[in-house]
Amino acid sequence: MESNKDTLPYNLNEIKKNAKKSLDQGAVTTDYPLDLNQAHKLLNAALATEIMCVMRYRHHQIIAKGIDRPQIAAEFKEHGDDEQRHMMMIAERINQLGGNPDFNPATVPQRTATEYGTGKDLVKLIEEDLVAERIAIMVYRELIEWFGKDDPTTRRILEDILKDEEDHADDLADILNIK
Ligand SMILES: [Fe+2]
Ligand SMILES: [Fe+2]
Repeated sequence: MESNKDTLPYNLNEIKKNAKKSLDQGAVTTDYPLDLNQAHKLLNAALATEIMCVMRYRHHQIIAKGIDRPQIAAEFKEHGDDEQRHMMMIAERINQLGGNPDFNPATVPQRTATEYGTGKDLVKLIEEDLVAERIAIMVYRELIEWFGKDDPTTRRILEDILKDEEDHADDLADILNIK
């Protein structure tokens, strides 16, 4: 019987041999093509951004005042819930990639791409959130490009998050009625 060995686009024997190396790395196989330290660093920066976004939205949810408070506070809560989910998605992925998801509050301010904000009135709060979402959108696009086809799992996680951030920005712009 003719072997299909020559028709495969990969060397299965080589793969089987490599699969047994560095078992302690779990999902990170020897052919992982990216710089892992850089991957951890970029994802820990994204993690800090999500932590900051959780804190900003929770703050805004509580301090929202005025005639539109019920509707706007509900929107802030929904966004905060999404940011919290993003935070955990990124932390899980860092862990899978053998890194340490860095929740240290002392270093969040240096790693985050977005700010906590200083606004008080509703319009200012919404504007701050919109700016933060637009920063997150641009940073996630860069990260998606960086992980690219070399790490499709991380790329897809980031693509899912990017979709949510675009929804958030769109919601906020609709509320401000500026589009
Ligand atoms: Fe997010
Ligand atoms: Fe968001």
